[in-house]
Amino acid sequence: MYQSDLLKDRVVLITGGGTGLGRAMALRFAELGARIFVCGRREEPLRETCEAIRASTGPQQASAPAGAYATCDVRDFAAVDAMLARARNELGEVDTLVNNAAGNFLARTEKLSPHAFDAVVKIVLYGTFHCTQALAQRWISTGRPGTVLNIVATYASAACGSGFVVPSACAKAGVLAMTRSLAVEWARHKIRLNAIAPGPFPTEGAWSRLLPTKEIEERWLAAHPMKRWGRHEELANLAVYLISPQSEYVNGECVTIDGAQWLRGAGEFNDAVEIPDAAWELMESARKR
Ligand code: COA
Repeated sequence: MYQSDLLKDRVVLITGGGTGLGRAMALRFAELGARIFVCGRREEPLRETCEAIRASTGPQQASAPAGAYATCDVRDFAAVDAMLARARNELGEVDTLVNNAAGNFLARTEKLSPHAFDAVVKIVLYGTFHCTQALAQRWISTGRPGTVLNIVATYASAACGSGFVVPSACAKAGVLAMTRSLAVEWARHKIRLNAIAPGPFPTEGAWSRLLPTKEIEERWLAAHPMKRWGRHEELANLAVYLISPQSEYVNGECVTIDGAQWLRGAGEFNDAVEIPDAAWELMESARKR
């Protein structure tokens, strides 16, 4: 689908790059020649992703590592700054940022603690701002172009929100506003920002937090227009296009990739209204154990 060296000489930072869709993008970008820096809170998946990158890219990139990582909680601006310095030291100047790190769970909003709302909004909205601003400051002061890709959600781009994932809906809508605002503000600095709004792509992180039972999963799959979930490589290939030079004139855009799910029924998790209170209580007590 793409030239095998399409992303040669690129240095891409992917937040939350050790698992799920972040990992899928990391491996695909590396396959096309990019050097990848992944960050996240847990060291083990980051190390494993870097090992997979190195194993897949082989000796042709032996002069510089194809992948490196640092643990970092993107909620903490100082930690982001330190992580970026490490990325620079290990791989050289980062030219592309993928804000993929997320926090989310299915919950009745009236039951959320302030800390629960805070945790999700800080990871998604503040984390995206921290990484984007810190890198852009460097790009602007050194006169380098930069590319940012933000991973949002269909309930952000459809401007519909979604019940039962309200902290995420608020934060992702904010990230989308940030994407569009900065696309205009920073175009003069050759910084380009776009977003992807993925629908349902099975990952351990999302599935464990958003699809609490097999029965709900089957019901939601049956309601999907295409009767299937997304494949990781489908999202990764879209991401490649959006960070590649071929999409240079695409700026401030959000591309939905969900098999038309949101068109069928806006608010990805609104169907959770059907979950009875007793089932919610069961899930909550299982989590507390
Ligand atoms: N329902 C309601 N509240 C929940 C919850 C759930 N399923 N899961 C966590 N919370 C609450 C906690 O009870 C806590 O609030 P409290 O201190 O008032 O009790 C608050 O959220 C923060 O949780 P904690 O586990 O202390 O925070 P954390 O920073 O370690 O974790 C989360 C952040 C909650 C977003 C966690 O789910 C996470 O780490 N997610 C990362 C991966 C992810 O979500 N991926 C999304 C893929 S779509």
